[in-house]
Parts: sequence; structure tokens; C-alpha cells
Amino acid sequence: MRILLLGSKGMLGTDCQKVLGQEFEIISPEKKELDIISWDRVIDKLHQTGPNLILNCAAFTDVDGCENHKDAYMVRKINVEGPRNLAQAAARFDSKMFHISSDYVFSGQKSVPQPYFEDDILEPISAYGRSKMESEIAVKDNTSAYVIIRTGWLYGSGGNSFIKSIVSAALNQKGRKSLKVVEDQIGSPTWTYRLAHQIRELIKADAKGTFHATSEGYCSRLECADFVFKELNLKVSLHPCKLRDYPQKARRPLNCILENRLLKKQGLNVMADWKEDLSAFLDQYGDQLMKEARAGASGKS
Ligand SMILES: NC(=O)c1ccc[n+]([C@@H]2O[C@H](COP(=O)([O-])OP(=O)(O)OC[C@H]3O[C@@H](n4cnc5c(N)ncnc54)[C@H](OP(=O)(O)O)[C@@H]3O)[C@@H](O)[C@H]2O)c1
Repeated sequence: MRILLLGSKGMLGTDCQKVLGQEFEIISPEKKELDIISWDRVIDKLHQTGPNLILNCAAFTDVDGCENHKDAYMVRKINVEGPRNLAQAAARFDSKMFHISSDYVFSGQKSVPQPYFEDDILEPISAYGRSKMESEIAVKDNTSAYVIIRTGWLYGSGGNSFIKSIVSAALNQKGRKSLKVVEDQIGSPTWTYRLAHQIRELIKADAKGTFHATSEGYCSRLECADFVFKELNLKVSLHPCKLRDYPQKARRPLNCILENRLLKKQGLNVMADWKEDLSAFLDQYGDQLMKEARAGASGKS
């Protein structure tokens, strides 16, 4: 099996390359080599490489940045037209298309702990969420051999995440007494390394359709931060706040809990409990995270 992996230098893409590379042949062009917004370059790449499967981990992922008027054009290009190009090309070359979507396609209005299911109505409340919803439509409209994976609250060794941000904020507090963290946004912190294994299962099972894939269990951002600090033995005093009082440009769903219903129904769910995975991640990468956070504060790379 030959896989064309887009976004291979991103957080999820890095782990997909690592995990899928053990079993499959991976072609992983960087953005400068293959920009997914260019139909001609996508087609050329498929001509040259003839992949059996296209895995799209590329996206414009800055949720607040997506609200900027000046970036609206590029958000649409990358998050909607890019996936459309890939899906159309996949159909033309008889390749399967795997695409990553987001919990932010939902409004988050369900009361916690009711989860979102794969067939719930999509009602995004941000520009990013709308672009991911449209990306799903673009994929479905252009190929029948697709897998769409909705996930959320990703963290990994190779990218920016809430986990990285709070460790950095804690280590660079500079005299502030406590760290303000949101207590009413609920979701499932999900390790990109685990998600890459889930993607491998879906590929091997020749799956089709739209799947939810997040860690089992859920927590608030505040509980997640508390868990991280305890695991890293950092003494940080936390100050709970409401999402509506936290200054961010984009609106975010309060309830981000996704149920992996279809994965379970098909006997394919390999996602683990969020605490188990986060603990394993911090065991492996905790020192590196703290080193990077300290270096970031002192301006060293
Ligand atoms: N992070 C989360 O918490 C989260 C939650 C739910 C869903 N998701 C989805 O999961 C997927 C992976 O997210 P991530 O956090 O791993 O993303 P990420 O770290 O931001 O990486 C995105 C990658 O896409 C590449 N890219 C951007 N524009 C491109 C273009 N026009 N052509 C080719 N490559 C391009 C980027 O390259 P450059 O760096 O060179 O620009 C980068 O390597 C995305 O679809 C995202 O929407 C993420």
C-alpha cells in the first residue's frame, strides 16, 4: 500500500508518518513541494506517485486566525478547496481518501456529558468550524471511497497544543499568582500517536464513512491542566474561569465530547482513556516540553 500523506510536518502528520511508515510506503511532500490548493500540482503528484490512499492531515488550524478577514480567502482555499482537489484527484486515480475533521463542526450546545455522534447535525459556531464542515462536504461530494475522521483536543510531540501552551504559561508566569484556565469547556485530550494507530486500523479494515475518534472519557480544560501539572510535579495555582470570560477571537463549543460510536460498532476502536495516554505522553515527552518552554521564554530555540 502506497500512501500520499499531506501535512506530514504537522502535529498529527508527524505521528502518522512514524506509525504508518512501519507498515506502508509513505510519500510525504512538504507544503512547498505540494500545496494542496493547486489542482495542477495535486494531479501531477498523483501521476508521478500513483498512491492507493491519500491521507490529508494538512489544514489551516489557527482557530482564532480563521476569524481574520484578511485570512478568510486562504482558510477557504486550504481547508475547503484543498480537500476538494484531493478528493477529486483521488476519485480520478482510484485512490482512497482519508480526511481529518474536527469536533468544532458541532455547536457544543448539548448538555454535558451527552456526546456528539457521527450523524448529529453540524452547526459550527466559528469560521474554522465552518471551514471544516465544508471540507467534509467537499470530500463527500467528490468521492465515494472516503473516510472522514472527526477528532479534537489533539496534542503530540511535534506541534502546538493546549498541553504545550499551559506548560509554557506555567513555566513563564513571572510573578503571577495563578493561571487562568477554562472550567466549562469539556472534551477529550487526544494523543496524535494514538490517533495515528487508529488511522492504521481504519486503513487495514478498508473502512468507509465518517468516524469519531477521540480518547475515551472527558474532562474540562481546567482538569486537564491540573492533571498535567501533577504529572510533571509542577506547583501551579489554577484560577478557574468561564469560556465566555476568556479572551479569544473565535467562539468555541462548550461540549466537545465525541462518541466513537461507529468505531465501536465495527470493532475498530483502539482509542484509550485520556488520562492513560496523557500520562504516557508526559512520561516520554514531559522533560522535552519543559525544556522547550524554558528555551522559548529565554528566546533560545
Ligand atoms: N490540533 C487540534 O487540536 C485538532 C483538533 C481537531 C481536528 N484537527 C484537525 O487535524 C488535522 C491535523 O491537525 P494538526 O494540529 O496536526 O495540524 P498542524 O500541526 O497545524 O499541521 C498542519 C500541516 O498542514 C500543512 N499545510 C497547511 N497548508 C497547506 C497547504 N496549502 N498545502 C499543504 N500542506 C499544508 C502545514 O504546513 P506548514 O507548517 O508548512 O504550513 C502543516 O504541516 C487538521 O485537519 C485539523 O483541522 C486538529
